[in-house]
Amino acid sequence: MKTMIIQGSARSEGNTKAVVTLLQQKLNADVIDLKKLDYSGFDYAHANREDDFLPTMKKLVQYDLFLFVTPVYWYSMSGLMKNFFDRITDCLKIDKETGRKLRGLKMAAVACGSDDLEAEGFFIPFQKSADYLGMTYKGSLHTWAHHGNIEPPEQVRIKEFVKTLTE
Ligand SMILES: Cc1cc2nc3c(=O)[nH]c(=O)nc-3n(C[C@H](O)[C@H](O)[C@H](O)COP(=O)(O)O)c2cc1C
Repeated sequence: MKTMIIQGSARSEGNTKAVVTLLQQKLNADVIDLKKLDYSGFDYAHANREDDFLPTMKKLVQYDLFLFVTPVYWYSMSGLMKNFFDRITDCLKIDKETGRKLRGLKMAAVACGSDDLEAEGFFIPFQKSADYLGMTYKGSLHTWAHHGNIEPPEQVRIKEFVKTLTE
């Protein structure tokens, strides 16, 4: 299964990156770091149609599974990731060919917080978006890290989650 991890932290080398690295090793996945892309939020006039969003989506739809990995910022996904989701609207409006390719693909989501408390309803936007786009939602995991370190029991949970993705 070809997997693309979409990393959504406001820093490329933080706690989310530590989780991404572990997931990447276990899934043999490719990674897109949203922080390194140049794209802006949704624009009704699509004045940003030439930025990095659409080329990134065209690449993404060649994968079987999209694994979104985001830090928990104010009980939600990061702004970078939310902007990315908002821009998927472009695929329903100005690049329908790419939008149609989403149907039947798989999605999953991982959150990285600072402790083991999962924010209530955190994963609902991922689940609902997958449903709306005709994608199969493969599941969610809340995890946490400190200073780029993931505690061994947490590493075990992440590895167990990976197994459920490849089943
Ligand atoms: C802007 C911001 C908002 C945050 N909001 C929350 C929060 O609502 N709940 C929480 O548990 N942690 C929150 N945190 C802590 C981060 O989720 C946590 O430190 C995470 O591991 C950071 O990942 P990163 O290093 O990839 O940014 C917040 C951190 C930042 C910078």
